Amino acid sequence: MSKKLLLKNIDVEGIKTFEVFRKHGGYSAAEKAFKMTPDEILEEVKISGLRGRGGAGFPTGLKWSFLAKPEGVPRYLVVNADESEPGTFKDRYLMEYIPHQLIEGILISSFCLGANVSYIYIRGEYSWIPEILEYAIQEAKAHGFLGKNIKNTGYDLEIYVQRGAGAYVCGEETALLESLEGKRGNPRLKPPFPAVKGLYQCPTVVNNVETIAAIPAIISITGAEYAKMGVGRSTGTKLISACGNLNRPGVYEIDFNLSIEEFIYSEEYCGGIPKGKKLKACIPGGSSVPILPAKLLLKTANGETRLMNYESMADGGFITGTALGSGGFIVLDEDQCIVRHTMTLARFYNHESCGQCTPCREGTGWMYRILKKIEEGRGTYDDIDLLWNIQSKIDGNTICPLGDAASWPVAAAIRHFRDEFQWHINNPECLTKNYGIAEYATI
Ligand SMILES: Cc1cc2nc3c(=O)[nH]c(=O)nc-3n(C[C@H](O)[C@H](O)[C@H](O)COP(=O)(O)O)c2cc1C
Repeated sequence: MSKKLLLKNIDVEGIKTFEVFRKHGGYSAAEKAFKMTPDEILEEVKISGLRGRGGAGFPTGLKWSFLAKPEGVPRYLVVNADESEPGTFKDRYLMEYIPHQLIEGILISSFCLGANVSYIYIRGEYSWIPEILEYAIQEAKAHGFLGKNIKNTGYDLEIYVQRGAGAYVCGEETALLESLEGKRGNPRLKPPFPAVKGLYQCPTVVNNVETIAAIPAIISITGAEYAKMGVGRSTGTKLISACGNLNRPGVYEIDFNLSIEEFIYSEEYCGGIPKGKKLKACIPGGSSVPILPAKLLLKTANGETRLMNYESMADGGFITGTALGSGGFIVLDEDQCIVRHTMTLARFYNHESCGQCTPCREGTGWMYRILKKIEEGRGTYDDIDLLWNIQSKIDGNTICPLGDAASWPVAAAIRHFRDEFQWHINNPECLTKNYGIAEYATI
């Protein structure tokens, strides 16, 4: 049984409320932080080795240390709760069931960064969550943990919840800032980075919900203790949202030593695949990371057991490896058709492209149309090569990584399942039966 930090109290009845949260140690990390200097808090976060949980895994302490501090200019902490990557739903779980953990994390982080205003930018489709957050904010305020002169420290903090209108690209941090400013959510050219010119052109830190929700635990147990959990540069714990063909889909807090095999098959986690079907493939880090066939998923190309951590997932690069990403773990059993699956993702990325960059605007639609053609039984072998060519022209050639996110699933699907694409072209009946070839299933 792995040690829990984020979900430790998730099953406590009434943990949503300030009273119960406080009874279980809530806001004691904030009280501890108020006795420290901002530099001491920053040092703890650096020592903890915490890496951003939004997808890229950038070290949080390092990011915070980049924050510019010009005299007389406000600084902001913006919490990224856009969570629109297909397969990812762990931030929702935290916000819905233990909102004060996020509020306490924002309080400590903002105090450390010298921000007096913080925003939670939340995806529009999470229509019922803002109310939960607003309520928690009001409770924290009523108990003196937000507002003016918090606990007689002389420190002021207001938190505002801002709903997005339902655009995946607004999860990209600069598009998010544009949207927060009331503009169309188009990603900005970088540099300048948000740490220098972010919200309203002021220094800004943008962090994922889970990243910020981990801060109270780090302050409580110390950065050094947090760093002891995990493996190598994957420290602490991570939330994984598991879905697809699993007996027990859901949100799990894992430690980074866990093998993928144990995560999928053990009763403590996903409990295996329904009806005893075989594992065909998995996208382990949200829809944009490369899909891996079972044999490369469970063991790396060198035959080592693949673990649920940043380094092990990335073993082999994007040729025989993948990425932990946001932790959106999507499992496909032997009956799933890779062509149909890839087409569904391509449709999503085409719909969500903001249209600013030509390779993404045109390329995502083109990829979708070709995949649809193959899926409908009208494809040729040349279409596979054309698809490969188009994805390679998008990857790395756009202002923001949405283009990369659209190209990687297509590239990985062709790389690992080219003969299934060919099989699909020769066997259009797959369309009606809705399954592909099962030879890839190894377990
Ligand atoms: C298209 C796109 C969508 C993104 N969506 C999210 C998101 O929903 N939530 C998130 O935290 N980060 C998302 N990111 C990553 C953010 O740009 C940013 O790296 C992250 O919020 C930083 O927080 P972290 O360091 O705590 O991970 C997205 C990036 C891209 C390119």
